[in-house]
Amino acid sequence: MSPEHPGLWVTLEGGDGSGKTTQAALLSEWLGAQGRTVLHTREPGGSEVGVLIRNIVLHHRGEVVPRAEALLYAADRAHHVATVVRPALARGEVVIQDRYLDSSVAYQGSGRVLDPVEIRDLSLWAAEDALPDVTVLLDIDPAAARRRMDAEDRPFDRLEAEKVDFHTRVREAYLGLADAEPERFLVVDAALAPDEIAERIRSRVAPLL
Ligand code: TYD
Repeated sequence: MSPEHPGLWVTLEGGDGSGKTTQAALLSEWLGAQGRTVLHTREPGGSEVGVLIRNIVLHHRGEVVPRAEALLYAADRAHHVATVVRPALARGEVVIQDRYLDSSVAYQGSGRVLDPVEIRDLSLWAAEDALPDVTVLLDIDPAAARRRMDAEDRPFDRLEAEKVDFHTRVREAYLGLADAEPERFLVVDAALAPDEIAERIRSRVAPLL
C-alpha cells in the first residue's frame, strides 16, 4: 500500500519485444489468486480517448513531428491517469500498467531529439505528478528483441520500425532512469526465462501488498 492511496500501482517498461505483456498477465493472475482486484491497463490507449490517440501515434502514415508526438502521449497520459488510474487506486485496486512516463522520457526524449528533462516535466504536469509505486524495467538487447518480434511475424508499428540504434538509445535511457531512481525501479534481464522473471517481480511486489 502506498502513502497516497489504498491501491498499488505497478508499471512495466522496456523496449518493444521485451515481454511486458506476458509479465503483466502473469502478475495479474498471481495477484488475482491473492484475492486482489487487478486493473490491467496500458499507455497509449488505456482510455476511450486514448484509443483514438493511440491510433494517431502508432498508425498515422505520414510524419508526426517530435513535439506533436510527445504532446499526444502526454494527452493520452493526462486523460488515462485522471479517469482510469487514479479512480482504481482510490478504490484500493492494483493497477498493472504497460508503459508510463518512463516510455516518453526514453522514446521521445532520448530516442528522438527532445530534451529528456522537458519530456519528464511535461508528463508530470499531464499526470499531476502521479508516479507509480514500482516500475519494472525489462531490460533487453535491441537485436534480441528484434529477433523475437520477427519470429512473431506481425507488422511493425511506427516506433518498432525504427532502427536498432534508436532502440539502443532507448535502452540506455531506461537504464539511466533506473539508476536515478533505484527505490522505484526493479531492473530484470528480459532474456531470463519468463517464470524466473515473474518470480523476481512477485518478490518485489509482495511486501507492498
Ligand atoms: P505497444 O504496441 O503498446 O508496444 P509494446 O507492446 O512494445 O509496449 O506500442 C507502444 C509504442 O509506443 C512503443 O513503441 C513505445 C511507444 N511509446 C512512446 O514512444 N512514448 C510513450 O510515452 C509511450 C507510452 C509509448
